[in-house]
Parts: sequence; C-alpha cells; structure tokens
Amino acid sequence: MKKQIAVLAGDGVGPEVTKEAVKVLKKVAKKFSHDFSFKEGLIGAIAIDTVENPYPDETHKLCLESDAVLFGAIGDPRFDNNPKAKVRPEQGLLKMRKALGLYANVRPIIAFEGFTSKSPLKAEIIEGVDFIVIRELTGGIYFGEPRGRSENGEKAFDTCVYSKDEILRVSKFAFDLAMKRGKKITVVDKANVLATSRLWRETTQEFAKQYPEVTVDYMFVDNASMQIIKRPSVFDVVLTENMFGDILTDEASVITGSLGMLPSASIGERTAVYEPIHGSYPKAKGTNTANPIGAILSAEMLLRYSFEMHKEADVINQAVIAVLTSGKGTKDIVDANPISTSEMGDAVINMI
Ligand code: IPM
Ligand code: MG
Repeated sequence: MKKQIAVLAGDGVGPEVTKEAVKVLKKVAKKFSHDFSFKEGLIGAIAIDTVENPYPDETHKLCLESDAVLFGAIGDPRFDNNPKAKVRPEQGLLKMRKALGLYANVRPIIAFEGFTSKSPLKAEIIEGVDFIVIRELTGGIYFGEPRGRSENGEKAFDTCVYSKDEILRVSKFAFDLAMKRGKKITVVDKANVLATSRLWRETTQEFAKQYPEVTVDYMFVDNASMQIIKRPSVFDVVLTENMFGDILTDEASVITGSLGMLPSASIGERTAVYEPIHGSYPKAKGTNTANPIGAILSAEMLLRYSFEMHKEADVINQAVIAVLTSGKGTKDIVDANPISTSEMGDAVINMI
C-alpha cells in the first residue's frame, strides 16, 4: 500500500525518538512491500524560531494531505519560564488538535512485564495493569471562551464549555473501543460540583443504553486519581474530559514506571496524530539517550488505527517486547549497560 506520513519531530528529544520510529516504519514497509513516504514539517519552539508560528499553515497543509502524522514532542524551557511570552510552543499543539478535529485522545497504560521494579508502586498493585484512557481533546477549559484577564489585569478567567455533541462523539469512540476490550467503562467527572460534568454524566448515561453489554461506572475525578494508584488493575476504558484526562494520564503513566515507553493516538475528523506521551525532555536533548520505545509504539498505533495494518503492527509490538525481554534498554529502564536511543531503534529493527 502507498501511504504518506507527515513527520513533525518538534522540540527537545522529539527529533531523536521520532527518527527511530521512522526507521522502524521503513523496515516494516520493506518487509511487507509497502510504499511509505515521509515528509517533514515544523511545529513548536523550532517553528517559532524559524517562521514565528508554532503551527505554520504549511504544516497544517502537510497534515491534511498526509495519511497519518507522526509527532515527536513540543516545549522549550525558554518559554516555560517566561509567562509573558506572546507565542508559546504549546499553542502549536493546541492549534493542531483543533484544526485537525482530534477529539479522541487514546492513551494506553500498560505495565510491561519485567519492569515492575521501575515503578514507584508495589509490584502486586501494578501487575496486569492494562487500561486505556480516552481523553476528550478539543473542548473543555482548554478552548472555552471567554478566557483572559480583566481590564486592570487583577483577575484572570478560563471557561469550561462542553456541548452534548462533543460528549457524544468521544463517547461513541470510547464505547466502541470498550466493546473490543473488557466491555467496561469508567466515566470520570466532577458532577457533584461542575455543570459541564453533569452534562457529561447525563449524556453518557443516555448514550450507554445503546451498549447494553458495556458496564458503566461513574467516578469523581478526585476519587479516580486515588484509585489509579490504589487499584489500577480494575480499569479497562476510562472516559473523561480534556483537563481531567491531561492530569490523570500523567499520573497513570508513572504507575508503570515507564513514561518513556507509552504511546498515544489522537483521532478525529481529519488526519490522526501519533506521539509518545512523554514531553520534550529538554535536559536530554541531543544526547542520544532518550527512550524511543514510546515513539516506536506510536508508530505501531499508527499502523493499526490509521492504516488498519494489524499484522504489521503486531510485528512491531513483538519486536519491542523481544528487545525488552532480552534486557536491552535505555538508561531510564536499565541500570546495567544501558544503550543509546539509536541503538535501541537498531535493536528493534533487527528483531523485525
Ligand atoms: C499533553 C500535554 C499538553 C496538554 C500540553 C503540552 C499543552 O500536557 O499532551 O498532555 O496539556 O494537553
Ligand atoms: Mg499532559
């Protein structure tokens, strides 16, 4: 099959890990006689430095004409420490999400066998953890209007807004996914306080009637944040709004002890985007030490969700597991003789 993949490597370690994911995709293409072409685009701080726009029109055009987008990371400490900066790298990411209509953010949380000692939690708590968070990605407090400052600058406000349609489309995605998994959904909200959460609850309760086989639980976000570290293995599919999903997925990612190994997909109205969940990790930039597994598993998700190439995706997954099982790893996951980012990519390729 002939496919075009947009590569937006972005900032920090983004370029290093994305390079390994591209290497892996090229190897898969060769093995299965596909014709994948890769076209690079600018996003984030590097795009601000080059064209003064964190998500240039040219990048958007490239995304639209591509069959999938492989994304690295965004962010630069130069901007984090300057709250007055007018343009910020993160605006590029938010603009892309909105422009591509990426309303369903899929974040799998998997405990990799053999790496439980890397987790701050006890092995018996994380054993068998395998759940997916579906985070709504284009609504809520991230995008609601009005937002800003009062005239005298002494007050600031953000607005959390959700429409029924926005809740329904991401719910459909989550329920369809649950049907292919353990048929269990936990809807996380703050319906005891927030009007938007009450609309979420009302809408999902009604929608759930179309899926009699799916068991639906409701959990307040404060309780969910506790259950995620107390009993993470009870979750199958977690469905939640934008901001709660942002916070809970960072929390959930560390229970497995492997922030560098987790992939994600953002799916919606136009081209889907695949990226590791870790950030730009500026301290490690250019050192060839970052873990490329999150990026490589994002390439696996890309093959599965955008191209429906399940055999090819399985091959990547098996290769990654084989490499990890052999004891190889970057310094975040292996204490004795860690290997580099590119060596890790090579190891995966050799297994394919
Ligand atoms: C994420 C990140 C982004 C978010 C930032 C970089 C804007 O934390 O993808 O989880 O808050 O959505
Ligand atoms: Mg986040």
